[in-house]
Amino acid sequence: MEKIVIEGGYRLKGRVKISGAKNAALPIMTACLLTDEKCIIKNVPKVVDVATLSGILGELGAEVESGEQGRLVIKAASEGSSTAPYDMVRKMRASFCVLGPLLAQRRRAKVSLPGGCVIGLRPIDLHLKGLRALGARIDVEGGYVRAEAPQLKGARIYLGGPCGSSVTGTANVMMAAALARGTTIIECAACEPEIEDLANFLNKMGAKISGAGTPRLTIEGVDSLHGAEYEIIPDRIEAATYIIATSITKGEVTIEGARLEHLAAVMDKLSEIGIVLAGEDRRLKVISPAKFTSTDLVTLPYPGIPTDLQAQFTALLSLADGISVVTEKIFPDRFMHIAELNRLGARVRKEGPHAIITGVSGLSGAPVMASDLRASAALILAGLVARGKTVVNRIYHLDRGYERIEEKLSSLGAQISRIEDERGSSEEVIYA
Ligand code: UD1
Repeated sequence: MEKIVIEGGYRLKGRVKISGAKNAALPIMTACLLTDEKCIIKNVPKVVDVATLSGILGELGAEVESGEQGRLVIKAASEGSSTAPYDMVRKMRASFCVLGPLLAQRRRAKVSLPGGCVIGLRPIDLHLKGLRALGARIDVEGGYVRAEAPQLKGARIYLGGPCGSSVTGTANVMMAAALARGTTIIECAACEPEIEDLANFLNKMGAKISGAGTPRLTIEGVDSLHGAEYEIIPDRIEAATYIIATSITKGEVTIEGARLEHLAAVMDKLSEIGIVLAGEDRRLKVISPAKFTSTDLVTLPYPGIPTDLQAQFTALLSLADGISVVTEKIFPDRFMHIAELNRLGARVRKEGPHAIITGVSGLSGAPVMASDLRASAALILAGLVARGKTVVNRIYHLDRGYERIEEKLSSLGAQISRIEDERGSSEEVIYA
């Protein structure tokens, strides 16, 4: 097992280029199963989740070839296995997005239930509800979802759940509906930019989808889809993580490639904290204040503050003047990072879905354990500013979603390195 060692206290300076969005790339890769023609996807981040999904697509008969600068060429077979086994799906929940395309293209699918994970319960009822509404016969047995439909039929579907819509649920239903007979209307669809990106890709493949980015998606089914070439949007979560990394070290960094329109809620909250973002779209300059102002924030579906930035904001607010309250409305148990941040000297307590943060004047380095992808990022951020040495263990989580993070941070002046754990570990890696 590898770990990351950080010597804190260095201000970040320079420029960093944002990679393609992992959460857009993954469903778009599964959409390639909807045609047997070649698809070329550009700006795909080089992260472990992409490699894991490439392996799953390979098992399903697709040829996946990875090239320079994030270019991925995927050619699915017209026939082949329609089974995504447990050993693969449990490694990465997003692989459940093969369900919709397999069902639509191969008329049947058997996909392992992804199970829960460290950030809490992760149900799939909305995925199944949507696919059933399209006429699929679905059974859940032996830990697998088995779905069958000789011909999917368009329907009007409400996809709202107790915490809003489901991002991958919307992706699954939208991909299946693209090849259904007739028109599908999804109400309470996820509005995330990654869903809009998927819809744009599907439209390039010949789908007829309108309303992407709004809660009502209209999908006129077509008989078949064809190959397409497409460039993935920049990763808004990575961009915001580097904005927070810059601020927390009181640095001055230009973030290249991020799209301002995807970061409105994040920028609004950062300005309340005192962080100035100057410049223009695709070239944002982060200017840090002498002191951070405490604030309250709530994670919400897009266009609200993403749950995928909750841990990073918690790290930042642990150094703000006064008390902040962070409320998690998407995954109310997603607070595993609190205990680890407290090991670094933060003063955070959890009360139900809230983190109550009493700002401290400084953090001090310590060994910590990463529990999931974004928690890992929060610990790195805290380590960048903590006095002395911080060692982040279990960093395989980090590699799932951040491309070359220690390289990018080093280029900005951080003292960060990756080392092999000499003791080794027999720990089994299970991804959330
Ligand atoms: C996606 C993102 C993940 C992000 C999450 C929330 C990808 C690959 N992953 O995950 O990074 O943290 O959105 O923005 O894009 N829910 C149900 N029933 C369902 C499905 C979900 O009630 O069938 C609930 C969940 O428990 C949660 C909320 O809906 O409270 C949102 O989850 P969802 O959008 O489905 O998350 P993912 O798509 O798995």
